[in-house]
Amino acid sequence: MQIHDSLQHPETDPRLSELTLLYQFSNTMLSTIRLNKLLHLTLTAITTPSSNLFERAILFLRNEKSNVLQGMLAITRQLSEGLQIVGGQDALGSRWDISEEVISRQRSAEFCLQVRLTRIEIDTDCPLIHRIISERNIYHHDNNICHKCPTCHFIRPLCGGSFAAAPLVARETTIGMIVVDNPDSAREISSNNLHFLQLFANQAGMAIENSMLYSRIEDAHLNLKDARERLLHGERLAAIGEMAANLAHELKNPLITIGGFAGRLLKSLPGDTREHGYADTIVSEVSRLEKMLAEILAFSRKPTICFRRCDLEDIIQNCLASCVATFEDHNIRVSFSSDAYPLAVSGDSHQLNQVFLNLILNACDAMPEGGELSLTLQKTSPDKKTVTVTVEDTGGGIPQDMLPQIFNPFFTTKHHGTGLGLAIVNRIILNHFGSIEAGNTGQGAVFTITLPLAE
Ligand SMILES: Nc1ncnc2c1ncn2[C@@H]1O[C@H](COP(=O)(O)OP(=O)(O)OP(=O)(O)O)[C@@H](O)[C@H]1O
Ligand SMILES: [Mg+2]
Repeated sequence: MQIHDSLQHPETDPRLSELTLLYQFSNTMLSTIRLNKLLHLTLTAITTPSSNLFERAILFLRNEKSNVLQGMLAITRQLSEGLQIVGGQDALGSRWDISEEVISRQRSAEFCLQVRLTRIEIDTDCPLIHRIISERNIYHHDNNICHKCPTCHFIRPLCGGSFAAAPLVARETTIGMIVVDNPDSAREISSNNLHFLQLFANQAGMAIENSMLYSRIEDAHLNLKDARERLLHGERLAAIGEMAANLAHELKNPLITIGGFAGRLLKSLPGDTREHGYADTIVSEVSRLEKMLAEILAFSRKPTICFRRCDLEDIIQNCLASCVATFEDHNIRVSFSSDAYPLAVSGDSHQLNQVFLNLILNACDAMPEGGELSLTLQKTSPDKKTVTVTVEDTGGGIPQDMLPQIFNPFFTTKHHGTGLGLAIVNRIILNHFGSIEAGNTGQGAVFTITLPLAE
């Protein structure tokens, strides 16, 4: 590998040097599949000093969903040094490369950042856009920028007197545009340069389209892998759940017998004996196990939801009221803020009550020495029609490696926990067409619930 200082053209004929550039670009395309790198290589090649083509280049890609040309990258001549030529014995067999350091320098340049914030509407009467999008043809500006259209509002402050724009075309559609100009020398763009730009943009269009397709395939592959893992995980959890439910069912009857006899024993033994203490322990442990088995059986039963319009603020206030004694015992300060709107959701108030109760009790468990519990309730955004509730504590948070597991049934770090609290919460929220996320604030844990607002 050698650092570029000229594009290795022994010839001085500009035509030959442009041809070599096109050759090298086509070799580069074959070996560069990452979109980001390809965009940097594309613009660096046409602005690099030794190619002597343009002093500045801007690249836009078409966003199909919002129907705009979106600013992706801009490179000025000052930042176009650093193109490396690798492989091949001669210029025609070689290709370009660029280091991550140069890429990040180019990306963080002021001009580039400005361009990246730019969106150009496609549905306009602008002749430039019409030529690029509909005619798929090169546009050469000759000082007739209009004063009305938003395209020119963008172009006017950025590009100097003379500039050219070329469509990036793939499969007979414009997928983007390259704009070039010479702001340092104010040199006019020659017809030869325009011709080269057209050829270059044709190649770049195909390369960029391939690279985007590759990214899409890669994303689809990752999603598929993710879905497969979730399916396997779900199957495993279902098997564990079924086993636990069967076990709980089998254990319930003998446990009732043990509890009954232990209770009788307790009554018949004098209160101040050691045996009375043993029987007392058996009774309280049996009742804890019974509670746990009841929870497991409730979890394994298919839930029925009774959908009604209910006010989330009322539900949260009721939950907080029922936990006042716990807050006082644990020295926990509580704050609750809510948007002024009536925030009604369609759901089962009893189950939603269970959700907040579980989260609040978990927060209390995390703050045995006291702390702060804050709840907020607000509309996520007016058009999204959802409401967001956060439950935040100052109990030190959840270790990062545990976060993916806390919603799994039976995952617990507590001595007396069943690990079903958050699994139940998650299921209730999903049944209400909402979502829940857990995270850390630095001081403690934060749970964020999003639910659709009632019509
Ligand atoms: N606010 C929190 N702060 C820190 N850790 C938490 C918090 N909430 C949950 N966790 C962690 O997640 C685990 C699972 O919580 P979950 O409510 O499902 O079960 P549990 O509280 O252990 O038992 P239970 O079934 O009695 O609720 C907890 O054991 C704890 O480690
Ligand atoms: Mg819990």
